[in-house]
Amino acid sequence: MICLKKVFNPRWWMFAWHYIRGRTPWDTNVTPPEVLEFIREAPPGRALDLGCGTGTNAMALAEKGYRVTGVDFSAQAIRAARRKAAKAGLSIDFRVGDVAHLGDLSGLYDYALDIGCLFSLTAKDRASYAAGLARLLRPGGKYMLYAHLPHPWHGRTIGLDPNQVRALFQSDFKEEKIVIGEEKGHGTAWYWLSRT
Ligand SMILES: C[S@@+](CC[C@H](N)C(=O)[O-])C[C@H]1O[C@@H](n2cnc3c(N)ncnc32)[C@H](O)[C@@H]1O
Repeated sequence: MICLKKVFNPRWWMFAWHYIRGRTPWDTNVTPPEVLEFIREAPPGRALDLGCGTGTNAMALAEKGYRVTGVDFSAQAIRAARRKAAKAGLSIDFRVGDVAHLGDLSGLYDYALDIGCLFSLTAKDRASYAAGLARLLRPGGKYMLYAHLPHPWHGRTIGLDPNQVRALFQSDFKEEKIVIGEEKGHGTAWYWLSRT
């Protein structure tokens, strides 16, 4: 069912349009090495994949014994994620929902992951996402974020810079590491934070 909040959210339409056309270049079915390294080293627990898309990374976590919740506001992506997980025999709690309104979820999670979602939110939604995540992650819990650095896109600037990430999370999280990289000619960054 389409809810009114979504209908008035141009970002929801943009992602819906991508999924309907099958133009989802981010949907590689490959889990990034940064996530695989984390999974290798940390003991399994509860994990939250924010903007989980079709579930590739949620499935990688579940395969290693994590109990995973995946949230995405695209019903089409969540349907695909559920199909993929069922085919792989994995039990994952995939939910259609807005990462800026995580009130339906209750804590505590040991790990949260966001690959490519936070930077697409409005400033207001980013703040509400950060507050929701602070509520859901246990003290010492890890949060890994992958985001594009600011760059021009269709006449506007999209992306997040490290200072914006610091400002969003500094009250409840400790920054552990940032690695700047590049993807298809755009600057990107991986952030490792932990809940204080
Ligand atoms: C660039 S894709 C990345 C998907 C997935 N993390 C991956 O790596 O394959 C960003 C995802 O975030 C979702 N998304 C964007 N804004 C959202 C919001 N406010 N609430 C929930 N999902 C959102 C989109 O539907 C899309 O699936």
